[in-house]
Amino acid sequence: MTTVLTTSPETAAAFIRRGGIVAFPTETVYGLGANVFDAPAVARIFEAKRRPADNPLIAHVGSLEQIRLLTKEITPTAQKFIEAFFPAPLTLVLRRAERVPLVATANLDTIGVRMPKNELAREFLRLCETPVVAPSANLSGKPSPTVWQAVFEDLNGRIDCLLQGEATEIGLESTVVDCTSHVPLVLRSGALSLEELRKIVPATEMYYVKENEAVRSPGLKHRHYSPRARVVLISDFGFRISGRSAYIGLSTPKMNFDLIKICASAEEYAHEVFAFFRACDHARIETIYCEIVAEKGIGLALMDRLRRAAES
Ligand code: TXA
Ligand code: MG
Repeated sequence: MTTVLTTSPETAAAFIRRGGIVAFPTETVYGLGANVFDAPAVARIFEAKRRPADNPLIAHVGSLEQIRLLTKEITPTAQKFIEAFFPAPLTLVLRRAERVPLVATANLDTIGVRMPKNELAREFLRLCETPVVAPSANLSGKPSPTVWQAVFEDLNGRIDCLLQGEATEIGLESTVVDCTSHVPLVLRSGALSLEELRKIVPATEMYYVKENEAVRSPGLKHRHYSPRARVVLISDFGFRISGRSAYIGLSTPKMNFDLIKICASAEEYAHEVFAFFRACDHARIETIYCEIVAEKGIGLALMDRLRRAAES
């Protein structure tokens, strides 16, 4: 398969309307999209990414009206979050409408819905004339793509089209919140902080997987965000480097690394981390030392991604 590279949202949207799969930028990370109502196209996303079939997809909408096509009911808490934030790096999990094919939601009776903020994404979605399901546009297990070149590296020849935009503004994925019950539950921390959510619905809780309980967000149990290199989390520089090594963090280390990224803020750290992981693989780095940051604001999502990368 030849992957068409384009900067035209109309060219990219035409592939979606004809049943194709298309990578496109959002403010969080690049997504790999298909028409949510086209089950064979949705199935191709799983194949192209080598994604486990039990991991549900997020539906992206270009307008608020499209949320009604996808869901049975917009709960009062969901309504509050929509009014306060949409378009935003925020995914709301709601009861799924019957017409949504089961392949899109991995057989769940719920669906994640998000309205991206990125201008090119919004133009693309408008031209698709349908909600578009899209996971991050990386091979399963690899770091999420924050530039089109990272999508190309993973998926060239496996997808119909790649809509080339800028580097994504945020660099970490959306916050996923289950809004099906009275107490909103954050299933995946992300770009929109817990503090922001609690300003709108103070009862919002973090969801932690309890032992002997089915995982609510199936994606949480899969391997994620991993470079080939070993990832080690550090809070000081009392260690000895061996082999080709790299460092990313807020503090300035005294030792010599083969690759180094010092970030001015947690926001910049979040913006850079996935691209840095990929750069480390290109430079054949063996160990990446990542500085631990405070778990507030974007720091909560950043630490979540770093821990997952360090576990695998
Ligand atoms: O920022 C983002 O969310 C990006 C861009 C492309 O929008 N998308 C993204 O998709 O990160 P993906 O598939 O890589 O991650 C989706 C996460 C997974 O952890 C999945 O399990 C969870 O959202 N999820 C999706 N639908 C769900 C549902 N109905 N119930 C519970 N969790 C769900
Ligand atoms: Mg992903």
